[in-house]
Amino acid sequence: MSFKITIEPDKKSFTAEKDETVLSAALREGIGLPYGCRNGACGNCKGKLLEGQIEYTDVPLTGITDEEKSSGYALFCQAIPRSDLSIECRQIEAVGDLVIRKLPCRVNKIEKLNHDVVRLYLKLPSSERLQFLAGQYIDILMKGNKRRSFSLANSPQDDNYLELHIRHYDGGVFSEYAFNKLREKSLLRFEGPLGSFFLREESSRPIIMIAGGTGFAPVKSIVENIQHKKLDREVHFYWGARSKADLYLHELAESWAMKMKTLRYIPVLSEPRQSDIWQGRTGLVHEAVLDDFSDLSPFEVYACGPPPMVHAVVDNFTGRGLSEEFIYSDSFEFATQTSGGK
Ligand code: FES
Repeated sequence: MSFKITIEPDKKSFTAEKDETVLSAALREGIGLPYGCRNGACGNCKGKLLEGQIEYTDVPLTGITDEEKSSGYALFCQAIPRSDLSIECRQIEAVGDLVIRKLPCRVNKIEKLNHDVVRLYLKLPSSERLQFLAGQYIDILMKGNKRRSFSLANSPQDDNYLELHIRHYDGGVFSEYAFNKLREKSLLRFEGPLGSFFLREESSRPIIMIAGGTGFAPVKSIVENIQHKKLDREVHFYWGARSKADLYLHELAESWAMKMKTLRYIPVLSEPRQSDIWQGRTGLVHEAVLDDFSDLSPFEVYACGPPPMVHAVVDNFTGRGLSEEFIYSDSFEFATQTSGGK
Protein backbone atom coordinates (compact mmCIF):
# COMPACT_ATOMS: atom_id res chain seq x y z
CA MET A 1 0.00 0.00 0.00
CA SER A 2 1.34 3.44 -0.88
CA PHE A 3 0.94 6.72 1.02
CA LYS A 4 0.94 10.34 -0.04
CA ILE A 5 3.42 12.64 1.70
CA THR A 6 2.90 16.38 1.50
CA ILE A 7 5.64 18.86 2.36
CA GLU A 8 4.39 22.03 4.01
CA PRO A 9 4.14 24.89 3.42
CA ASP A 10 4.68 24.60 -0.35
CA LYS A 11 2.41 21.51 -0.73
CA LYS A 12 4.93 19.58 -2.81
CA SER A 13 3.93 15.93 -2.59
CA PHE A 14 5.33 12.49 -3.33
CA THR A 15 4.34 8.87 -2.80
CA ALA A 16 5.99 6.28 -0.58
CA GLU A 17 5.63 2.68 -1.66
CA LYS A 18 5.11 -0.16 0.81
CA ASP A 19 7.80 -0.16 3.52
CA GLU A 20 9.77 2.62 1.84
CA THR A 21 11.22 5.31 4.11
CA VAL A 22 10.16 8.92 3.67
CA LEU A 23 13.67 9.90 2.55
CA SER A 24 14.05 7.07 0.01
CA ALA A 25 10.64 7.88 -1.50
CA ALA A 26 11.48 11.59 -1.75
CA LEU A 27 14.85 10.94 -3.42
CA ARG A 28 13.30 8.42 -5.80
CA GLU A 29 10.83 11.09 -6.92
CA GLY A 30 13.56 13.70 -7.29
CA ILE A 31 12.74 15.71 -4.18
CA GLY A 32 15.88 16.85 -2.39
CA LEU A 33 15.34 16.23 1.30
CA PRO A 34 18.56 16.73 3.28
CA TYR A 35 20.52 13.73 4.62
CA GLY A 36 23.94 12.68 5.83
CA CYS A 37 24.35 9.05 6.94
CA ARG A 38 20.99 7.51 5.90
CA ASN A 39 21.58 5.36 8.92
CA GLY A 40 19.75 7.03 11.82
CA ALA A 41 22.93 8.53 13.27
CA CYS A 42 23.60 12.09 12.06
CA GLY A 43 20.23 13.80 12.41
CA ASN A 44 20.57 15.68 9.09
CA CYS A 45 17.30 14.26 7.79
CA LYS A 46 15.32 15.47 10.81
CA GLY A 47 12.06 17.26 10.13
CA LYS A 48 8.68 17.83 11.65
CA LEU A 49 5.86 15.35 11.35
CA LEU A 50 2.73 17.51 11.27
CA GLU A 51 0.16 14.81 10.61
CA GLY A 52 0.02 11.06 10.13
CA GLN A 53 1.60 7.90 11.52
CA ILE A 54 5.08 6.52 11.00
CA GLU A 55 6.96 3.48 12.17
CA TYR A 56 10.73 3.29 12.42
CA THR A 57 13.02 0.63 10.98
CA ASP A 58 14.94 -1.32 13.60
CA VAL A 59 18.14 0.71 13.13
CA PRO A 60 19.21 2.44 16.42
CA LEU A 61 18.11 6.08 16.24
CA THR A 62 20.98 8.03 17.73
CA GLY A 63 20.33 11.10 15.58
CA ILE A 64 17.20 12.17 17.46
CA THR A 65 16.44 12.62 21.17
CA ASP A 66 13.29 11.47 22.97
CA GLU A 67 12.42 15.15 23.59
CA GLU A 68 12.65 15.87 19.88
CA LYS A 69 10.44 12.90 19.12
CA SER A 70 7.83 14.04 21.60
CA SER A 71 7.93 17.55 20.12
CA GLY A 72 6.90 16.04 16.79
CA TYR A 73 10.29 15.66 15.07
CA ALA A 74 11.19 12.56 13.08
CA LEU A 75 14.19 11.07 11.29
CA PHE A 76 12.97 10.71 7.74
CA CYS A 77 15.78 8.34 6.68
CA GLN A 78 14.29 5.67 8.97
CA ALA A 79 10.60 6.69 9.13
CA ILE A 80 8.22 4.43 7.23
CA PRO A 81 4.76 5.97 6.65
CA ARG A 82 1.78 4.04 7.97
CA SER A 83 -0.73 6.65 6.71
CA ASP A 84 -0.67 9.72 4.48
CA LEU A 85 1.71 12.25 6.03
CA SER A 86 2.11 15.96 6.20
CA ILE A 87 5.69 17.00 7.02
CA GLU A 88 7.81 20.13 7.32
CA CYS A 89 11.51 20.09 6.40
CA ARG A 90 14.29 21.84 4.56
CA GLN A 91 14.68 21.04 0.87
CA ILE A 92 17.92 20.87 -1.09
CA GLU A 93 17.47 22.96 -4.19
CA ALA A 94 20.83 24.62 -4.64
CA VAL A 95 24.47 24.25 -3.75
CA GLY A 96 24.10 26.62 -0.81
CA ASP A 97 21.72 24.14 0.85
CA LEU A 98 24.36 21.39 0.97
CA VAL A 99 26.80 20.84 3.80
CA ILE A 100 30.48 20.73 2.77
CA ARG A 101 32.26 18.12 4.88
CA LYS A 102 35.66 16.52 5.37
CA LEU A 103 35.33 12.74 5.42
CA PRO A 104 37.53 9.66 5.35
CA CYS A 105 36.97 6.97 2.73
CA ARG A 106 38.46 3.67 1.68
CA VAL A 107 39.37 2.67 -1.87
CA ASN A 108 37.01 -0.18 -2.62
CA LYS A 109 38.06 -0.90 -6.19
CA ILE A 110 40.52 0.41 -8.78
CA GLU A 111 39.65 -0.27 -12.39
CA LYS A 112 41.78 0.56 -15.42
CA LEU A 113 39.51 2.08 -18.08
CA ASN A 114 42.13 2.62 -20.79
CA HIS A 115 45.86 3.40 -21.18
CA ASP A 116 45.72 6.55 -19.01
CA VAL A 117 42.46 6.63 -17.01
CA VAL A 118 41.58 4.65 -13.89
CA ARG A 119 38.27 4.56 -12.10
CA LEU A 120 38.25 4.61 -8.30
CA TYR A 121 35.30 3.48 -6.25
CA LEU A 122 35.47 5.02 -2.78
CA LYS A 123 33.52 3.71 0.19
CA LEU A 124 32.52 6.00 3.02
CA PRO A 125 32.24 4.78 6.63
CA SER A 126 29.00 2.84 7.05
CA SER A 127 27.42 5.67 9.02
CA GLU A 128 28.04 8.29 6.30
CA ARG A 129 26.72 9.26 2.87
CA LEU A 130 27.67 12.28 0.81
CA GLN A 131 24.81 14.42 -0.43
CA PHE A 132 25.73 16.29 -3.60
CA LEU A 133 24.30 17.61 -6.85
CA ALA A 134 25.04 15.81 -10.13
CA GLY A 135 28.13 17.42 -11.67
CA GLN A 136 29.88 18.55 -8.47
CA TYR A 137 33.39 17.53 -7.40
CA ILE A 138 35.38 16.67 -4.29
CA ASP A 139 38.91 17.61 -3.21
CA ILE A 140 41.18 14.73 -2.19
CA LEU A 141 43.20 15.98 0.79
CA MET A 142 46.85 15.04 0.67
CA LYS A 143 49.88 15.46 2.91
CA GLY A 144 51.36 18.95 3.17
CA ASN A 145 47.98 20.66 2.75
CA LYS A 146 47.85 19.71 -0.92
CA ARG A 147 44.49 18.99 -2.46
CA ARG A 148 43.40 17.71 -5.86
CA SER A 149 39.93 18.11 -7.33
CA PHE A 150 38.01 15.28 -8.99
CA SER A 151 34.47 15.28 -10.33
CA LEU A 152 32.04 12.72 -8.96
CA ALA A 153 31.00 10.34 -11.74
CA ASN A 154 28.22 8.48 -9.90
CA SER A 155 24.76 9.97 -9.74
CA PRO A 156 23.67 11.36 -6.34
CA GLN A 157 21.08 8.58 -5.94
CA ASP A 158 23.65 5.86 -6.56
CA ASP A 159 25.72 6.70 -3.53
CA ASN A 160 26.96 3.37 -2.14
CA TYR A 161 30.33 4.28 -3.63
CA LEU A 162 31.79 7.55 -4.86
CA GLU A 163 33.20 7.13 -8.36
CA LEU A 164 36.18 9.15 -9.64
CA HIS A 165 37.91 9.02 -13.04
CA ILE A 166 41.63 9.78 -12.68
CA ARG A 167 43.74 10.58 -15.69
CA HIS A 168 47.48 9.95 -15.58
CA TYR A 169 49.77 12.97 -15.89
CA ASP A 170 53.54 12.63 -15.69
CA GLY A 171 54.56 14.19 -12.39
CA GLY A 172 50.93 14.78 -11.34
CA VAL A 173 50.99 14.53 -7.55
CA PHE A 174 47.80 12.54 -7.05
CA SER A 175 47.63 10.88 -10.45
CA GLU A 176 51.13 9.37 -10.06
CA TYR A 177 50.10 8.17 -6.62
CA ALA A 178 46.81 6.74 -7.93
CA PHE A 179 48.52 4.88 -10.76
CA ASN A 180 51.55 3.61 -8.88
CA LYS A 181 50.91 3.39 -5.16
CA LEU A 182 47.22 3.41 -4.40
CA ARG A 183 45.82 -0.01 -3.55
CA GLU A 184 42.38 -1.37 -2.80
CA LYS A 185 41.60 -0.72 0.90
CA SER A 186 43.89 2.38 1.00
CA LEU A 187 42.49 5.20 3.13
CA LEU A 188 41.93 8.71 1.75
CA ARG A 189 40.38 11.92 3.06
CA PHE A 190 38.37 14.36 1.02
CA GLU A 191 36.34 17.53 1.26
CA GLY A 192 33.09 18.07 -0.60
CA PRO A 193 30.76 18.44 -2.31
CA LEU A 194 32.17 21.46 -4.14
CA GLY A 195 31.48 23.52 -7.23
CA SER A 196 28.62 25.17 -9.03
CA PHE A 197 28.75 22.93 -12.09
CA PHE A 198 25.54 20.99 -11.61
CA LEU A 199 22.39 20.25 -13.54
CA ARG A 200 19.78 23.02 -13.31
CA GLU A 201 16.78 20.77 -12.86
CA GLU A 202 14.22 23.55 -12.74
CA SER A 203 15.03 24.57 -16.32
CA SER A 204 13.26 23.10 -19.33
CA ARG A 205 15.82 24.28 -21.90
CA PRO A 206 17.38 21.66 -24.19
CA ILE A 207 20.92 20.81 -23.09
CA ILE A 208 24.19 20.72 -24.97
CA MET A 209 26.90 18.92 -22.97
CA ILE A 210 30.49 19.11 -24.05
CA ALA A 211 33.20 17.06 -22.40
CA GLY A 212 36.91 16.83 -23.05
CA GLY A 213 38.79 13.79 -21.68
CA THR A 214 37.79 13.00 -18.09
CA GLY A 215 35.25 15.83 -18.33
CA PHE A 216 33.12 12.77 -19.07
CA ALA A 217 32.93 12.05 -15.31
CA PRO A 218 30.47 14.82 -14.30
CA VAL A 219 28.53 14.25 -17.54
CA LYS A 220 28.05 10.64 -16.45
CA SER A 221 26.72 11.81 -13.10
CA ILE A 222 24.33 14.27 -14.76
CA VAL A 223 23.04 11.82 -17.39
CA GLU A 224 22.46 9.09 -14.81
CA ASN A 225 20.66 11.64 -12.66
CA ILE A 226 18.44 12.57 -15.63
CA GLN A 227 17.71 8.88 -16.20
CA HIS A 228 16.95 8.27 -12.54
CA LYS A 229 14.59 11.21 -12.29
CA LYS A 230 13.07 10.49 -15.69
CA LEU A 231 13.58 14.12 -16.68
CA ASP A 232 12.26 14.84 -20.13
CA ARG A 233 15.14 17.08 -21.26
CA GLU A 234 16.62 16.98 -24.74
CA VAL A 235 20.37 16.30 -24.39
CA HIS A 236 23.04 16.60 -27.11
CA PHE A 237 26.24 15.15 -25.68
CA TYR A 238 29.52 15.88 -27.51
CA TRP A 239 32.61 14.06 -26.20
CA GLY A 240 35.93 15.27 -27.55
CA ALA A 241 39.06 13.12 -27.43
CA ARG A 242 42.22 12.57 -29.43
CA SER A 243 41.70 9.00 -30.60
CA LYS A 244 39.16 6.29 -30.03
CA ALA A 245 41.11 4.78 -27.11
CA ASP A 246 40.63 8.07 -25.24
CA LEU A 247 36.83 7.66 -25.31
CA TYR A 248 37.26 5.46 -22.29
CA LEU A 249 33.57 4.64 -21.70
CA HIS A 250 32.39 4.96 -25.30
CA GLU A 251 30.09 1.93 -25.10
CA LEU A 252 28.39 3.32 -22.01
CA ALA A 253 27.67 6.61 -23.78
CA GLU A 254 26.38 4.67 -26.81
CA SER A 255 24.08 2.69 -24.53
CA TRP A 256 22.59 5.94 -23.16
CA ALA A 257 21.76 7.03 -26.71
CA MET A 258 20.13 3.65 -27.38
CA LYS A 259 18.04 3.75 -24.19
CA MET A 260 17.12 7.43 -24.01
CA LYS A 261 15.03 8.81 -26.85
CA THR A 262 15.94 12.33 -25.75
CA LEU A 263 19.75 11.87 -25.84
CA ARG A 264 22.10 12.14 -28.86
CA TYR A 265 25.74 11.11 -28.42
CA ILE A 266 28.32 12.63 -30.76
CA PRO A 267 31.93 11.54 -30.18
CA VAL A 268 34.47 13.81 -31.89
CA LEU A 269 38.10 12.81 -32.44
CA SER A 270 40.80 15.41 -33.03
CA GLU A 271 43.58 12.96 -34.03
CA PRO A 272 42.02 9.60 -34.95
CA ARG A 273 44.53 6.84 -35.56
CA GLN A 274 44.45 4.78 -38.72
CA SER A 275 43.73 1.72 -36.61
CA ASP A 276 40.59 3.45 -35.27
CA ILE A 277 38.95 3.08 -38.72
CA TRP A 278 36.93 6.09 -37.54
CA GLN A 279 33.93 7.11 -39.56
CA GLY A 280 32.52 9.56 -37.03
CA ARG A 281 33.08 13.28 -36.51
CA THR A 282 36.57 14.74 -36.44
CA GLY A 283 38.09 18.08 -35.43
CA LEU A 284 37.64 20.16 -32.29
CA VAL A 285 34.64 19.29 -30.20
CA HIS A 286 33.26 22.83 -29.87
CA GLU A 287 33.46 23.26 -33.64
CA ALA A 288 31.28 20.18 -34.09
CA VAL A 289 28.58 21.94 -32.05
CA LEU A 290 28.96 25.11 -34.12
CA ASP A 291 28.64 23.02 -37.30
CA ASP A 292 25.40 21.49 -36.02
CA PHE A 293 23.61 24.56 -34.63
CA SER A 294 23.44 27.97 -36.29
CA ASP A 295 21.39 29.38 -33.39
CA LEU A 296 22.29 28.41 -29.83
CA SER A 297 19.92 30.84 -28.12
CA PRO A 298 17.38 28.23 -26.89
CA PHE A 299 20.01 26.00 -25.24
CA GLU A 300 21.67 25.54 -21.89
CA VAL A 301 25.31 24.47 -22.24
CA TYR A 302 27.40 22.40 -19.80
CA ALA A 303 31.09 22.35 -20.69
CA CYS A 304 33.62 20.36 -18.74
CA GLY A 305 37.24 19.66 -19.57
CA PRO A 306 40.56 21.36 -20.33
CA PRO A 307 40.64 25.18 -20.16
CA PRO A 308 41.21 25.78 -23.92
CA MET A 309 38.05 23.81 -24.70
CA VAL A 310 35.98 25.63 -22.08
CA HIS A 311 37.27 29.04 -23.21
CA ALA A 312 36.51 28.18 -26.84
CA VAL A 313 32.94 27.31 -25.83
CA VAL A 314 32.39 30.59 -24.00
CA ASP A 315 34.05 32.69 -26.72
CA ASN A 316 32.32 31.09 -29.69
CA PHE A 317 28.90 30.13 -28.40
CA THR A 318 27.97 33.60 -27.22
CA GLY A 319 28.47 34.70 -30.83
CA ARG A 320 25.73 32.25 -31.82
CA GLY A 321 23.09 33.84 -29.63
CA LEU A 322 23.70 31.95 -26.37
CA SER A 323 23.58 34.16 -23.31
CA GLU A 324 26.52 33.60 -20.92
CA GLU A 325 24.09 33.00 -18.08
CA PHE A 326 23.19 29.68 -19.72
CA ILE A 327 26.78 28.42 -19.97
CA TYR A 328 27.85 26.32 -16.99
CA SER A 329 31.45 25.22 -17.03
CA ASP A 330 34.02 23.31 -15.05
CA SER A 331 37.48 24.01 -16.33
CA PHE A 332 40.09 21.43 -15.31
CA GLU A 333 42.75 24.02 -14.55
CA PHE A 334 44.98 21.51 -12.79
CA ALA A 335 44.95 19.23 -15.77
CA THR A 336 47.29 21.54 -17.67
CA GLN A 337 49.73 21.73 -14.80
CA THR A 338 51.71 18.90 -13.30
CA SER A 339 49.41 18.31 -10.40
CA GLY A 340 46.99 16.00 -12.15
CA GLY A 341 43.60 17.07 -10.78
CA LYS A 342 40.16 16.22 -12.20
S1 FES B 1 20.42 10.84 7.36
FE1 FES B 1 21.56 10.69 9.18
S2 FES B 1 20.01 10.32 10.65
FE2 FES B 1 18.95 10.32 8.82
